Parts: sequence; structure tokens; C-alpha cells
Amino acid sequence: MKGLILSGGKGTRLRPFTFTRAKQLLPIANKPNLYYVVEDIVSAGIDSIGVIVNPETGGEIKAALGDGSRWGAEFTFIPQQEPRGLAHAVKTARRFLGDEPFVMYLGDNLLSGGIREFVEDYRAGRCDALILLTPVDNPQQFGVAVLDEAGAVRRLVEKPTDPPSNLALVGVYVFSPAVHEAIATLAPSRRGEYEITDAVQAMVDGGRRIEARLVHGWWKDTGRTEDLLDANRLVLSRLARDIRGRVETSDLVGEVVVEEGASILASVVRGPVHIAAGAVVDRSYIGPYTSVGPNARIVQSEVEYSILFADAEVRNLPHRLDSSVIGQGAVARGAGGGLRKHVARLVLGDISHVEI
Ligand code: DAU
Repeated sequence: MKGLILSGGKGTRLRPFTFTRAKQLLPIANKPNLYYVVEDIVSAGIDSIGVIVNPETGGEIKAALGDGSRWGAEFTFIPQQEPRGLAHAVKTARRFLGDEPFVMYLGDNLLSGGIREFVEDYRAGRCDALILLTPVDNPQQFGVAVLDEAGAVRRLVEKPTDPPSNLALVGVYVFSPAVHEAIATLAPSRRGEYEITDAVQAMVDGGRRIEARLVHGWWKDTGRTEDLLDANRLVLSRLARDIRGRVETSDLVGEVVVEEGASILASVVRGPVHIAAGAVVDRSYIGPYTSVGPNARIVQSEVEYSILFADAEVRNLPHRLDSSVIGQGAVARGAGGGLRKHVARLVLGDISHVEI
């Protein structure tokens, strides 16, 4: 069995961060989303992995992933010239996939329970596609599946305005090579894309056996800034305390990671919090569910439920930052002083600068 990671696309919903980087590389608890995806696929026993990339971000994705040897895997990078849909991406990977079954994994998805058990189910059974589902409150924003009483897949609709169910398609699919015939019959959807959802529907219509499973635990499509913060929270909630950096006259409470080369000086850090190598926290408070990126600096400020990317700087802020994302090398400075009675929310793109 092969793996196929979809890492192309546009990432417009995650601007400003995706102006400067591939959305699949955005850090969740200081690790690129794509790394979690690779780990999950490899832990299901799959080591030949195709990675769909687009011309704009393909270079940085290749640089971040390398050749796969770090995970004991082998990557084949497959350029998709335009983001014409998930089914189009599979078509683009046709030569790499050959006539083998494969797991397709969207590079901006995160799954707490992993995929191993679903891959084993597929291997043990005789279906042509295994799809993963989870109930959601906003089915309009996803592909949606309708099952019959016996649990068989009846109908699938992509981003329905009037959702026939609340079961969203999670961005992980296991396919037999029969999917290629279904893709060959597709026309572009209303939004102009070749939809994998329509390909699965074509398989249902053609009498193929499609199975569905509900995922255990949480699933996250890190499509928007709020999702990024929530994904960060979910991953941090599994953190185990590990202090390797320099800590002076500070109080570190609960599940806190301080990587080697980071410094915490005269500060209070209340976990779960992840502080990457080279970061400096000085006379500050860091509250739960915060990730501080490599070489970021927090000086005389309060930050909670937020993400600071690498080299970001927060200094002398008069308000506590909450639900904020500070891009790589971005700087937020204030005049500081006094009691921080107010809470501010900042979403700062890479290398931007504000004074508050
Ligand atoms: O996240 C789950 C949802 O993913 C499903 O419920 C939907 O049925 C499915 O269509 C998909 O919807 P999205 O609108 O979230 O897909 P998005 O355009 O964000 O693309 C998902 C990933 O695939 C992302 O990492 C970019 C990549 N991609 C996307 C397109 C359109 C490609 O590599 N090539 C493409 O042409």
C-alpha cells in the first residue's frame, strides 16, 4: 500500500500566514502539521509516500520533509501545476500510485487517534474505498455523507448548502485502484474543482463497496486561524513536562516543555505550554495552550492561548494577548507598565510590526 499526501492547494483562508508559507507547514505545538501526517502514515506501516506539491510552495515543502529517511520512508514529490481539486491531485499522482491501494491524507488535517486501525480494517476487508467520518456542527463547510440504517454509504455531497447529514468527511481516505476509473468520469463541480467526494459517489453509483468508519477522538482541519489555535490546544493537551533549557527565578506550573537553549527568566509559565529552542521569556506570564517558537522573545508581557512563530517578538505590551497568532519575525511592542486590565487579540502576519 502507498501513501499520498496532498500538500498543494492555495491556503487562502489562512492568510496572512500563507502569504509567506505553505499552510501544511504551519506549526502546531512547534512542529509542522505535515510532520504529524507523515508520522501517522508511517505508523500505519506505509513507507512509500507521494507528496502533491504546487509550484509556489513545493520548494519549501521539499526542504522541510527531505527524502523521508528521517521517518524511514521514501518520498516522491509530485507537482500539480494548478489546484484543480482533490480528485485531480490523485489523477496527477496516477503513475506513482500504479495499481496499488493507497491512503490519501490531506496535509492540513490532524487526527488524534491516528489511521492505523482503519488501514488494517481496509487490508482485512474487501471494499473499494474506506472513508472516515465525524459528526460536526458546521457540515456546510465539508464533504458530507449519508449512511443507511445498516451503515452503508448511500450519498455524498461536497459543501452542501442544505446538509443532508452532520457527518463530515475527514481528510483521510483509503482507496483501491478502482478509484481511478471513477475519477476519469468526473466533471468539475460548482466550485470548478474535480471533487474526490464526487469520485466516491461515482463508486457508490457503480456498485462498488464503500465502507465508512467514525474516527475516535478529535479531528482538525487547520483551515482557519481559529482552527490553528484549537489544533495547538489539542496537541498541547497531550504534552508531558520536560525542562531542558535555562530557568531562573521562575515558576513553571504543570505540563511545560522548555527546549534546550531556551531561557525563562523571572517569569510564570502555566502549562500546557511549549517553548522552543532559543526562545527567551523574560519578566512575563505565559498562560495555558501557548506555543513559543524557536528564538521568539516575550519580554515584560502576558500571553495566553496563543502561538508565536519562530523569531516573533512581544515586548512591553500594556494588554494581555489572548487567542493571538504572531507570525515569523513579527514584532508587537508597547509602552508597557501598569496593570494589564485589558485583553488584546492580534493576528500578525510574518515580519509585520505593531505598537500598542
Ligand atoms: O478537511 C476535510 C475536507 O477536505 C473534506 O470534508 C472535503 O470533502 C474535502 O473536499 C476537503 O475540503 P477542503 O475545502 O478543506 O479542501 P482544501 O481545498 O482545503 O484542500 C485540502 C488539502 O489538499 C490541502 O492540504 C491542500 C491540498 N490540495 C487541495 C486542492 C484543491 C491539493 O494538494 N491540490 C488541490 O488541487
